[in-house]
Amino acid sequence: MFNLYKLARPLIFKMDAEKAHGLTIKALKSGALPACKIVRDDALLQSLWGLNFNNPVGLAAGFDKNAEAIEGISKMGFGFIEVGTVTPLPQDGNPKPRIFRAPKHEAIINRMGFPNGGLDIFKTNLAATTRKDKIIGINIGMNKAQTNPAADYTTLIHALAPMADYITINISSPNTPGLRDLQSRAPLLALITAIKQALATTCGQNTPPLLVKLAPDLNEDQQKEMAQVATESGINGLILGNTTLDRPEFLPDDFRAQPGGLSGQPLTAKSTQIIHNFYALTNGAIPIIGVGGISNGAEAYAKIKAGSSLVQLYSALVYKGPTLINTINTQLLELLKADGHTNITQAIGADHG
Ligand code: FNR
Repeated sequence: MFNLYKLARPLIFKMDAEKAHGLTIKALKSGALPACKIVRDDALLQSLWGLNFNNPVGLAAGFDKNAEAIEGISKMGFGFIEVGTVTPLPQDGNPKPRIFRAPKHEAIINRMGFPNGGLDIFKTNLAATTRKDKIIGINIGMNKAQTNPAADYTTLIHALAPMADYITINISSPNTPGLRDLQSRAPLLALITAIKQALATTCGQNTPPLLVKLAPDLNEDQQKEMAQVATESGINGLILGNTTLDRPEFLPDDFRAQPGGLSGQPLTAKSTQIIHNFYALTNGAIPIIGVGGISNGAEAYAKIKAGSSLVQLYSALVYKGPTLINTINTQLLELLKADGHTNITQAIGADHG
């Protein structure tokens, strides 16, 4: 797999980014790609929300929007896979091109706007996937034309919650007008209440854990407010975070001029800081999945020490290829050992003393 990606990378980078992604999904679906070496070590095992994670490194949402390539993706050795964002109705998303790379900075800007095949296709794909040894989170969002967000989120809960190991409410993608406005007290409490009711009706006692994915662009007051809402509403976890609207000046002009959400290396420090803040604001009581610019073990470890129980990545997979998961887990084991930890859970929030 390593040599394969090394060989393929120059070709992939000559292609339009979305075309390359489409081909990657096709290849993963075909089952033709060889499995990567997978790190298995007790030090990486973690039980959270009643789920047993083999390692803390997950695939972030947006890579497999239609839950169609889970079998192939799981061969890369992820500890868990988040599929979606799925919306109730199929939608095309924004006009193309809408994914842009800055290879020198290992950064991506996207303004996809949730293109996906909709709920029915998603459900069919997921039902056809073998679930053994896989932890699958489902990331849900609303259609662009929807004016009542709760209607779309509850539709998705009714249809998909029984198939989910966890559910992520995505209210932080910058490319659906009005979506990020849900990141304030009253609208979010109302939305979570509606979703929890739908979960209880659909799943009874067996409700999957409910997570909320937030933007890294929240200011200090908004962070405080969101931490309070997270605590009061009884959600089970936070994903911190989505792409940023920031445009650091060191990025090439034509790249930074693109509207959309920025991910990859320029996001690393910012997302680690917001994880640190939320861990402190919630007294470490709400598990966090840390995501944003992770491309090696040290960056994953920094997010864990800042307060993440688990981590996710997307952009670095584009730049480094599928052997990255094995690399990160191997490096994590070394870092844990160097700090005298025997299990990953001992490092969570270690920066907070
Ligand atoms: C994303 N991301 C994303 N997130 C989400 O919740 N739903 C989605 O549909 C998408 N779609 C999407 C498409 C593309 C092309 C990218 C690059 C990203 C955001 C992603 O899950 C993650 O939060 C950020 O990309 C930050 O992590 P990385 O990429 O820096 O590791």
